[in-house]
Amino acid sequence: MRLISVALTAAFATFANAHFQLQFPLPRGPFVQNSEPTFCDGYTNAVSNRTVFPLSNGVIDLDSEHPTWTVGVIISTVQNPTSFSDFNSSLVVPYFKTSGEGGFCFPINIAASNVSGIQDGANVTIQVIFDGGDGILYQCADLTLSANVTVPSNATSSCATVTASTAASSPTATASSSAAGKNMLTVPSVVAVLLTGLALLL
Ligand SMILES: *[C@@H]1O[C@H](CO)[C@@H](O)[C@H](O)[C@H]1NC(C)=O
Ligand SMILES: *[C@@H]1O[C@H](CO)[C@@H](O)[C@H](O)[C@H]1NC(C)=O
Ligand SMILES: *[C@@H]1O[C@H](CO)[C@@H](O)[C@H](O)[C@H]1NC(C)=O
Ligand SMILES: *[C@@H]1O[C@H](CO)[C@@H](O)[C@H](O)[C@H]1NC(C)=O
Ligand SMILES: *[C@@H]1O[C@H](CO)[C@@H](O)[C@H](O)[C@H]1NC(C)=O
Ligand SMILES: *[C@@H]1O[C@H](CO)[C@@H](O)[C@H](O)[C@H]1NC(C)=O
Repeated sequence: MRLISVALTAAFATFANAHFQLQFPLPRGPFVQNSEPTFCDGYTNAVSNRTVFPLSNGVIDLDSEHPTWTVGVIISTVQNPTSFSDFNSSLVVPYFKTSGEGGFCFPINIAASNVSGIQDGANVTIQVIFDGGDGILYQCADLTLSANVTVPSNATSSCATVTASTAASSPTATASSSAAGKNMLTVPSVVAVLLTGLALLL
């Protein structure tokens, strides 16, 4: 009886604290569950060991602990972005909704975002914005963009699905070009809620 209640409590705790973990590129520091609802998972300063990341045709790999979720990515060209106001408000990966727990990859074409200052050799920070239904979560990765590298194959070995060849320039393009296409539905109400949340933060 006691064991059962401990197990139930543990299961409930796991569910209540369900989050996501950025796998590639690596985040600013080790995942901090309680800080994920805040800017950059609580890491307010850029790190110096930046990931050299493809200027075009990059991939983001994350682990989702939620069955259904919406994700988008914003970018900053500030050397040390310390707040949401340092990020460009336009999305480098537009919000899309999908389902599934575990490893998941989706394309990010930073060059196609047209954000000024993006070029070979530029230092940028991306912030992944994730909503699994119980609050908005954030993780950041500090990058040096390079026209000369591709995504290392081991960076995507843990995710079920990858489509890295298409620019995600609009929600429609993301929805149709990404892997697991049948799950990639854009839901305007969720997008509107997230955009509203983001606008309030900016
Ligand atoms: C940078 O170094 C820290 C501390 O060793 C580590 O936790 C982090 O994963 C590293 N980041 C990258 C992008 O390699
Ligand atoms: C990029 O960041 C690294 C480490 O943070 C720094 O040493 C380098 O000078 C920066 N490069 C540019 C072009 O700002
Ligand atoms: C970026 O600029 C190119 C060329 O002007 C344009 O075709 C493309 O639609 C723009 N992308 C975005 C996301 O605005
Ligand atoms: C933000 O990105 C848009 C294009 O997506 C660009 O037109 C604008 O200049 C950028 N703003 C800054 C401050 O870089
Ligand atoms: C990519 O290659 C070009 C040509 O060799 C070089 O000028 C540039 O510095 C390289 N970019 C990076 C980020 O290393
Ligand atoms: C991929 O391989 C590189 C170089 O061997 C290593 O530094 C990195 O940690 C590996 N990444 C993953 C996600 O296993």
